[in-house]
Amino acid sequence: MSTQTTTKAGALDQWLTELAAAGLDAPWTQPGPLIRPKKSAMQAHVWRWREIEPLLRRSPEFMQPGRGAERRILRLDNPGVPERTAAHTISVAVQYLLPGEVAPAHRHTPDAIRFMLHGEGAFTTIEGDKFVMRRGDLVVTPSMAWHDHGNDGTEPVIWTDGLDSPVVRYLENLFGEEFEGDAQPVRTGPPARHRHYSWNTAYAELTSRAKGDADPFDDVIMEYLDPATGRSVVPAIGCYLQMLRPGVRTRAHKETSSAVYHVVAGAGATEIDGVRHEWGEGDFFAVPPRALHAHANAGAAPAILFSFQDVPLLKTLGFYRVEA
Ligand SMILES: [Fe+2]
Ligand SMILES: [Fe+2]
Repeated sequence: MSTQTTTKAGALDQWLTELAAAGLDAPWTQPGPLIRPKKSAMQAHVWRWREIEPLLRRSPEFMQPGRGAERRILRLDNPGVPERTAAHTISVAVQYLLPGEVAPAHRHTPDAIRFMLHGEGAFTTIEGDKFVMRRGDLVVTPSMAWHDHGNDGTEPVIWTDGLDSPVVRYLENLFGEEFEGDAQPVRTGPPARHRHYSWNTAYAELTSRAKGDADPFDDVIMEYLDPATGRSVVPAIGCYLQMLRPGVRTRAHKETSSAVYHVVAGAGATEIDGVRHEWGEGDFFAVPPRALHAHANAGAAPAILFSFQDVPLLKTLGFYRVEA
């Protein structure tokens, strides 16, 4: 019997060697189920503005935007994501430009979204249309659209960038190219497409919704939608503006999507899988997929959150689920 087992085992080893040589794998030769549940590597994490801002303001000592490095950004590095992005699907950075500086024109496969944080004078030129970015404005650069940034003002400017580059990388299609010259010629007249969402319009919409029914999980929330399609601003990432009214504690839920939040104003806390994460103005925080999360605002002023979420991507694939 033992001889037979040895023979069998020997034959199996020989067969597996032949299998590997033929470029094949027999997953049932490994213990455990065929489809193994995989825990999300992405972690709940908070990035503090009081740490980000001074480091960002020192970055011009070490880097000038130009060909090569292209953008003076600090990327939010999630401790669980091997590619060092804020979420496994969304790359979030803060970008800094001094007066007169230009981040040279280029284009690339990832979609990019900017949400303006600080300073006057920032602009993004997309396919020849120049969009001035004021605090709270959102500007969308779709895949393969030429774009350059600049600062026409007298003070440094800061915005946050959200890109679907991790998804594009996973799909093995991450590439881009440089424009000839630093800045594109700017066209006059109305822009070819709606790419700029003003803070005043978005905030007015949010405050008007705050008078109506609240969402049990997000209190008052709205998604930015492309008026041309009625869909999310880019296919993989949805952008949301949200208000947690004073005293609100939302119901906890799990979503298959992931989110990276920026605190526009106010303070509060988000409980993620039983751990309370406090946040204040300027902070960023990440909520991983399938983590149980609930938001709270114990303060006397509304808390305003902006977020990048991969909800549209999960919905397109049929994987979006919510569990209360
Ligand atoms: Fe870019
Ligand atoms: Fe949620």
